[in-house]
Amino acid sequence: MKPLLSFQLLGVLFLVDILHCQALVHRRTFVYVSDPQTSKPNGTCQLEINIYKPLQVKEVPYTRLCSTKNILTVNGQFPGPTLYARKGDTIIVDVHNKGNQNITIHWHGVKQPRNPWSDGPEYITQCPIQPGAKFSQKIILSTEEGTLWWHAHSEWDRATVCGALVIYPKKGTNYPFSKPHAEFPLILGEWWKEDIEELYTEFLKSGGDPNISDALTINGQPGDLYPCSKPDTFKLMVEHSKTYLLRLINSGLQDILFFSIANHSLTIVGSDASYTKPFVTNYIAISPGQTIDFLLTADQDPHHHYYMGAKVYTATSNPFDNTTTTALLHYGDFTPSNSPPFSPYLAPYNDTNSSVSFTGRLRSLADKIHSVVDVPLNINDRLFFTLSINTFPCRQNDSCQGPNGSRLAASVNNVSFVTPTVNSILQAYYYHANGVFGDRFPDFPETLFDFTATDLPLYLETPKSRTEVKVLEYNSTVEIVFQGTNVTAGAADHPMHLHGFSFYVVGWGFGNFDKDKDPLNYNLVDPPLQNTIAVPVNGWTTVRFKADNPGVWFMHCHVDRHMSWGMTMAFIVKNGKFPNAQILPPPPDMPPC
Ligand code: C2O
Ligand code: CU
Repeated sequence: MKPLLSFQLLGVLFLVDILHCQALVHRRTFVYVSDPQTSKPNGTCQLEINIYKPLQVKEVPYTRLCSTKNILTVNGQFPGPTLYARKGDTIIVDVHNKGNQNITIHWHGVKQPRNPWSDGPEYITQCPIQPGAKFSQKIILSTEEGTLWWHAHSEWDRATVCGALVIYPKKGTNYPFSKPHAEFPLILGEWWKEDIEELYTEFLKSGGDPNISDALTINGQPGDLYPCSKPDTFKLMVEHSKTYLLRLINSGLQDILFFSIANHSLTIVGSDASYTKPFVTNYIAISPGQTIDFLLTADQDPHHHYYMGAKVYTATSNPFDNTTTTALLHYGDFTPSNSPPFSPYLAPYNDTNSSVSFTGRLRSLADKIHSVVDVPLNINDRLFFTLSINTFPCRQNDSCQGPNGSRLAASVNNVSFVTPTVNSILQAYYYHANGVFGDRFPDFPETLFDFTATDLPLYLETPKSRTEVKVLEYNSTVEIVFQGTNVTAGAADHPMHLHGFSFYVVGWGFGNFDKDKDPLNYNLVDPPLQNTIAVPVNGWTTVRFKADNPGVWFMHCHVDRHMSWGMTMAFIVKNGKFPNAQILPPPPDMPPC
């Protein structure tokens, strides 16, 4: 396998880092860039604050599916470099925009205590980094341990600008399972032959659905089942009877995915950088934004090859990418037989039951060392958020390719969020600038109706366009019931993601949430701790968290078309009384608005 970083570059890296190490041996942590194809850290080094080689955002040509286009990358890599850190580290990353468009970088799932400045969503916590400009971001890790990732948070740039963030246990502590022989990130994604910028602009202009992707990918490769792809299929080399830790990330823009490995069972051990009770399964359902850590024991006939594969799960009737991406599992020391690789079983695309029953099995490990469960029991802020696909009536000069000549939209509590364009909400809040956002995001939908009924009346379709935030007191305990709706007959699963926090997923179900009955079945003992959770189609999910992180924190559906249509909102968590409960001062090099 050819490393993506050039040899020369590696040499320089080593040299610089060895010098650092020699100067700083008494310090305690390390972070490294690596090649996701080999997934080996390029060395280890002891630094307290990890100053990472700059991330250079730039365009490079990539060829997939027999055609070549320029894509935006970090350091020329797709997927981008893996960052390695230990629990509790602080990482400094200089993002240098050498591309020709605005960009921001988000550290998905990193809580960034008191430091919303480096969180990344454009016009929410910062204005974008302009071409030629730099922004030094400080990534403050705290309780996260396991797998997170980073991605662009500007338009749809994360299609190619993304990578894994691996967080090891602190020195002197261990995984809650035996040390794996080796570990690899597996980044699932989508590929369009079309330019992503064009895809995005076209989609916004049309008022309809975006073009579906041409391929799904594993570590950037579509795999054997697509044209011109076979030689580059991602190959995972294993030794017989060894156990591996695989860090699965769904970086896709549009699709929840089923994933499976032929003939091998998977032991789930974590999700969203939090340990889960281990369980054995033969498939995974993973939503955009989510990570799943699992152990794989190479215990099958080593003379065979095995495919791992992923394909779309969807409950909507919209067109979708119906292809299957594959990677190969090879047993290294054996001469392979000539027979074709075994294929994994992947559920039919509309198998909602397989999707929700996988997610429903996740439980916090809830041991005293690796995962202390601290679910808020007395709730201060009770929120009920409906998630809807909507339409706007067609106006003159608009292109309206939505249903019945409308423009598609989406909303939370019937508010279709309008992202500011000249300032960020965080900066407006911090510097008391008026007119950027309102603070009246509704706690409940204004209109109550039978949310999941078929044939809902047309008047429910049109949302309000607003930029509203919900203000929370410092340390307030919050419960959100997300309720999917069937407005516009657009029921879908919505992977909801909250910045600045992880939340406990205490319950879920189908149909309308029943405020008298459903809470009786909440899991307050070992609910999974997630930063992204798929709310089931025409169903509901309840999450709880404590607002102990002052700042401005974005919340949105991680399906990008829903996000771009307005299925987003933001929280402002006020400062606490004492200085250590207040937002840190802004860095001097915030990108200008
Ligand atoms: Cu993974 Cu707001 O994003
Ligand atoms: Cu959604």
